[in-house]
Amino acid sequence: MSESAATSAGTVHLRAAEVSVVITTDPEPRILHWGPALADSDIPALTATSTGGVSYSSFDSPRLFPLLASERTGWSGRPALVWHRGGLHSDPAPTRTATHRPDAETVVFSFEDASAEASVELTLRLDRFGILRHRVRVTSTATAGEPLGLVSVRAVVPLPTEVDEILDFTGRWTGERAAQRTPITFGAHVRENRRGRTGHDAAFVTVTGAAGFGFRTGRVWACHTAWSGNLDTAVERLPEGAGVHATALSAGELLLAGEVRLVPGQTYESPETLFVFSADGIDGISARVHEAVRSLPAYPTSPRPLVLNTWEAVYFDHDPERLSELARAAASVGVERFVLDDGWFVGRPDDRSGLGDWTIDPDAWPDGLRGLSDLVHGLGMQFGIWFEPEMLNPDSDLARTHPEWILGTADAQALWRHQLVLDLTQPDVWNHILERMDDVIGTNGVDFVKWDHNRDLHAAVSRASGRPAVHDQVLAAYALMDELRRRHPRLEIESCASGGARVDLGVLAHAQRVWASDTNDPIERQLIQRYTGVLLPPEIVGSHVGPARAHTTHRTASLSFRMVTALFGHAGIEWDITGCTDDEREALRAWSGLYRELRPLLHTGVTVRSDGVDEGALLHGVVSPNRDHAVFAWVRLTPSTSGGAMRVRFPGLDPDASYVVRERTELGSSDLHLVRAPEWMDAPLTASGRLLGEAGLPLPVLNPGSATLIEFTRAE
Ligand code: DGJ
Repeated sequence: MSESAATSAGTVHLRAAEVSVVITTDPEPRILHWGPALADSDIPALTATSTGGVSYSSFDSPRLFPLLASERTGWSGRPALVWHRGGLHSDPAPTRTATHRPDAETVVFSFEDASAEASVELTLRLDRFGILRHRVRVTSTATAGEPLGLVSVRAVVPLPTEVDEILDFTGRWTGERAAQRTPITFGAHVRENRRGRTGHDAAFVTVTGAAGFGFRTGRVWACHTAWSGNLDTAVERLPEGAGVHATALSAGELLLAGEVRLVPGQTYESPETLFVFSADGIDGISARVHEAVRSLPAYPTSPRPLVLNTWEAVYFDHDPERLSELARAAASVGVERFVLDDGWFVGRPDDRSGLGDWTIDPDAWPDGLRGLSDLVHGLGMQFGIWFEPEMLNPDSDLARTHPEWILGTADAQALWRHQLVLDLTQPDVWNHILERMDDVIGTNGVDFVKWDHNRDLHAAVSRASGRPAVHDQVLAAYALMDELRRRHPRLEIESCASGGARVDLGVLAHAQRVWASDTNDPIERQLIQRYTGVLLPPEIVGSHVGPARAHTTHRTASLSFRMVTALFGHAGIEWDITGCTDDEREALRAWSGLYRELRPLLHTGVTVRSDGVDEGALLHGVVSPNRDHAVFAWVRLTPSTSGGAMRVRFPGLDPDASYVVRERTELGSSDLHLVRAPEWMDAPLTASGRLLGEAGLPLPVLNPGSATLIEFTRAE
């Protein structure tokens, strides 16, 4: 629970879930501490020690590091606010005018800048999960004249001296959320995203700590901006430090030149940036954020249905007979949601045409999609379809009829997957797409939309306003999702973007699932899911069993390994299972049964990941909140250099509990790279959580591309 107290006239102490954030307002709002919980009785000494000395060749008074850090405040790094009015008033001078406490979790600072005629409202909330949420609102208070041009609006917070390493992410199509570590040096480690969507190479989450922090070890400070457009994140160290702190962490939306120009009375509201501290490594960050995601109003409330998605099964070959057969095969193995991917609308034999014309293809579907939808519903499954609402092909009726609806100046549009972007910021465009989608969803019994976005936005200037429109385009997409869900309250939405290029907490305020990647190769997927899971709980992250030979990598993997990998997500199938052997269907049936059995655990539990296992191996699991039940996957990606079955510790269990430990073999037995498995695997073993967590069990050496599933059940 969050507790908070205004411990002295000018100091606010927010405290929740073993985190403290202490902010003084003297002489202006400044974070004195963000990290492990402090006692209220610590605050006077913290405040009394909140300034450093005066350095040589520096200002004549100690440098401070306020929340609105800028040159005016003595901060020579990336400033919190940059604006101007026609080139004037470019030195923001906001003076605090009020401090509000709307509730115990929140403090709001109001500022006025009389000369720039602007007001600023800075909201900091430490939620019950211990996550510090930062949001800024800037309003033009002028009554006439030049608009207030916003250049940057960032959350800027201090990091402690011990922090000297960054973990963040990059990626590409089919290789999203690839982890990279960087030592902190003097200067700025800047991650700018100008792709107009979150991007395959999104920084995603920036984790900092003392070098070598792991999933289970180290004090770490992390941030993520909940936004699906351009972003700007940096870790910055100046020789003079940041007040009495060593380093600054800053994040926010990246604004394009001229994108936000506030006319009198207009307000810019930043996306929320989340700052997350953990005393227990990256898993501690995940524990906080997963619970926060699970408390979102948009978070799905029903058990996550097992999916079959048609993409890798049929691609654009939408033959109703074939799809009906696929639906029947899906139902026969226990699928609960059948999703018709790209290719159902008119003029769409491939990805070169038709996008934007959301009319059901009368040649393939003379009676509309109702027939298939009825069949799918009759088989006891939900019915989903694919849309790409923000896009159009030049070869479409929409592009031919409304060239003025295309986002971007006419001479600056490079095609990407043969497509262009629709300017959803124009009300006519937004309404047109809404009505088309609403009609298809409403008349065909659609329960689920896979919402794709297959290109970056480049030179995204609205032809209506002549200005960059990424910010408004993101808001328009969110609003479209919300309006469709308002009209169809049971509708669920999956955020997909050429695989996992729109995976962020911004879109998850509106959507119920993300498609993490177009690769269904389990070797690739293990790592993509591991790091997507830093922010997202498994039930939100789509993960499908593909064919034996992965379409994206051409690598072959066993069915067992594909199934174990998909089990740790919102599971599905993306494979033409009408061609499966009886044995394969039987295996899929067993897997769907296991998914249903373990779903209550996997989709509500605590994600844990071990450090210090052999290179090329992973140990990850989910432990139920009461620690009665856990399932771990012991995974081998590449051959082991060592040949022995060594003890590996299982994190997250209750040390005082006794567990029955057993291998779950429904998806196949361990594919051993040993003559004989460790003896304890021959029969269920009883062991304490202490033994399992502190000493561990010898785990078998596996052949690469395989996994062992191990279950822990609290003994009666
Ligand atoms: C990209 C997505 O990531 C795929 O899953 C699939 O939906 C295709 N687009 C369809 O065009």
